[in-house]
Amino acid sequence: MRRERRRVTGTEQVGPYTLLRVDAGGLDAGVPGQFFMLEAPGRPLPRPMSVCLAAAGELAFLIDPIGPGTRALCSLERGEELHVLGPLGNGFELEVERPLLVGGGIGIAPLPFLSQRLGNPPAILGFRTDWHAEAAALVPNAEVCVEPTYVTELLPDDAGDVLACGPEPMLAALRERVPHAQLAWEAPMACGYGACYGCAVEIDGELKRLCVEGPVLRAA
Ligand SMILES: Cc1cc2nc3c(=O)[nH]c(=O)nc-3n(C[C@H](O)[C@H](O)[C@H](O)COP(=O)(O)OP(=O)(O)OC[C@H]3O[C@@H](n4cnc5c(N)ncnc54)[C@H](O)[C@@H]3O)c2cc1C
Ligand code: FES
Repeated sequence: MRRERRRVTGTEQVGPYTLLRVDAGGLDAGVPGQFFMLEAPGRPLPRPMSVCLAAAGELAFLIDPIGPGTRALCSLERGEELHVLGPLGNGFELEVERPLLVGGGIGIAPLPFLSQRLGNPPAILGFRTDWHAEAAALVPNAEVCVEPTYVTELLPDDAGDVLACGPEPMLAALRERVPHAQLAWEAPMACGYGACYGCAVEIDGELKRLCVEGPVLRAA
């Protein structure tokens, strides 16, 4: 884990999302599913973001502008600088036999990097609208559905090794269907490395810090 001040190398619109590219410098991209805390200009606290793409000295983050911090990150321009801390947390376990990636909405953010590391396995992606579904272009080999169809409707009976990220109801449905699935959960995070307890969630009756124990957890 390192904290560095990095330069924005470019931004792209992908449907309603922004792909923010930063010069990786001395930062290790880590394992897919791990995350970085990005300084959000003008905001006191950084915001957690999954690595979306890691190639050729760059890290890229796919950001949904849902509030002041994410909007500030999406408005960064090429050449501007921000503090970046990571990689943090536990990513996906990559020793799997029959990977099937499942993503919903902005939850597809870690899947391009994951797909690259696993050799482009099949993926099932779900989105609210066709506009949001433009982000599916970042994930090779993907079957895409748009509401009112949900990803769980496309899931085969023998789904194999599911690795998923998406909204809580989607993860809860997958947990029921695939007990050994690897699921990337979210909680609001202030520090990202175990110091503030802001991300504490109840797991098996115990309060655990999602930034340390997760964000990727086994469904069972
Ligand atoms: C490990 C991890 C990885 C993430 N990766 C990405 C990513 O790759 N791309 C991306 O766009 N977003 C990602 N997020 C979510 C992102 O960090 C939040 O959307 C962001 O911090 C919101 O900040 P804001 O100031 O824009 O909005 P805020 O004003 O902080 O929040 C807007 C609304 O969203 C709710 N909210 C904020 N953060 C979360 C959260 N983490 N979980 C549930 N509800 C929340 C708030 O309660 C509020 O209702 C990730 C979160 C985690 C924990
Ligand atoms: S975000 Fe501070 S302990 Fe997890």
